[in-house]
Amino acid sequence: MDLQINKRIKEIVGSSTLAITARAKELKAQGCDVVNFAAGEPDFDTPDSIKSAAIKAIESGFTKYTPSTGTLDLREQIAKKFKEDNGLEYTPTQIAVSCGAKHSIFNIIQVIVDDGDEVLIPSPYWVSYPEMVKLAGGVSKVIPTTAQANFKLTAQQLSESISNRTKVLILNSPSNPTGMLYSKEELESIAEVCVKNNVYVISDEIYEKLIYDIPEYTSIASLGKDIYDLTITVNGVSKAYSMTGWRIGYSAGAEAIMDYVKKFQDHSTSNPASISQMAALQALKEPQESILAMRDKFQERRDQMMAAFDQVAEVKYIKPDGAFYLFCDFSSLGVSLDVAKQILDDVNVAIIPGEGFGAPGFMRLSFATSTERIAEGTKRISEWIKKR
Ligand SMILES: Cc1ncc(COP(=O)(O)O)c(C=O)c1O
Repeated sequence: MDLQINKRIKEIVGSSTLAITARAKELKAQGCDVVNFAAGEPDFDTPDSIKSAAIKAIESGFTKYTPSTGTLDLREQIAKKFKEDNGLEYTPTQIAVSCGAKHSIFNIIQVIVDDGDEVLIPSPYWVSYPEMVKLAGGVSKVIPTTAQANFKLTAQQLSESISNRTKVLILNSPSNPTGMLYSKEELESIAEVCVKNNVYVISDEIYEKLIYDIPEYTSIASLGKDIYDLTITVNGVSKAYSMTGWRIGYSAGAEAIMDYVKKFQDHSTSNPASISQMAALQALKEPQESILAMRDKFQERRDQMMAAFDQVAEVKYIKPDGAFYLFCDFSSLGVSLDVAKQILDDVNVAIIPGEGFGAPGFMRLSFATSTERIAEGTKRISEWIKKR
């Protein structure tokens, strides 16, 4: 029978990471000692103080509907965070709490993008952006960036990519998968082009707290009134507080846009889990030492992984400024989809091939795992390359 499915849904492609992670699971089930460099989440436990806030929420009966874009307390705390960390003034009515940053981005794209609108996405990109654009009836216009340009979009490239159908640019700094962070100056020149052409910006800042060597983070919306009005800033607690399973993300922007995000959420998910909201409130409220401790660990692991690949001529990488991925050029070894499969089957190390990020020839290696596993996994990959 011909399956009668919505045409937009039909076009969605499955996750490129799935094939590798499914095979890794299979091998594990067979008793193989698989090193997992495929993870997209911190390996640390959620801090106890945050868990306690959730337990308290359950015990005190805070288990009912909340306003659909989150409790006022949480939105006030997020407004405080934006002001203190990013120099951004948002009122609670400009903020929507959603079920993870992924959900925030999805909702904003649904609200902004109309049939046939172009969405600019610099590649390498996070796998979900183009699929979200398809679901909204938009058209992704991928702007390739190069390793030579540190995988960053330039103002000139942006300018040349804008057409009269261009609606929005999706920026992700630090980036998944490259770890690259845009400087204030780079963001200023991008902002200037967006303002001149009236292009919205979705600024995905989910890895903001995981930056290394660089003392200060810049949010593009903080660079002036005009770009502030065009930007929807997205963040969340998943990566910074090791809270991926709690599903709390948030977005903030011009009130007129956020009103529609609220309406959209009113009629789809309603509020994110009340208990998770209490946990997120605690995460944002308490002293931020736990973040710093986790970040320092990630930095140590990043340096360890880089040092290991410095000994392998076939593998090239650009030092990541943030996030927890080393994005490596494996192109001298063959098609990355095949190479990733071979490495997994031959030496049981799971890495993610670049095709899904719009970057064939590259691999994403996550250092969200222990130093012991990093030592073991990098050793196995190095030996595999030598033996070829
Ligand atoms: C670039 C990027 N944006 C957004 C998300 C979504 O985060 P959340 O878990 O808050 O939905 C991820 C998660 O992998 C990500 O890598």
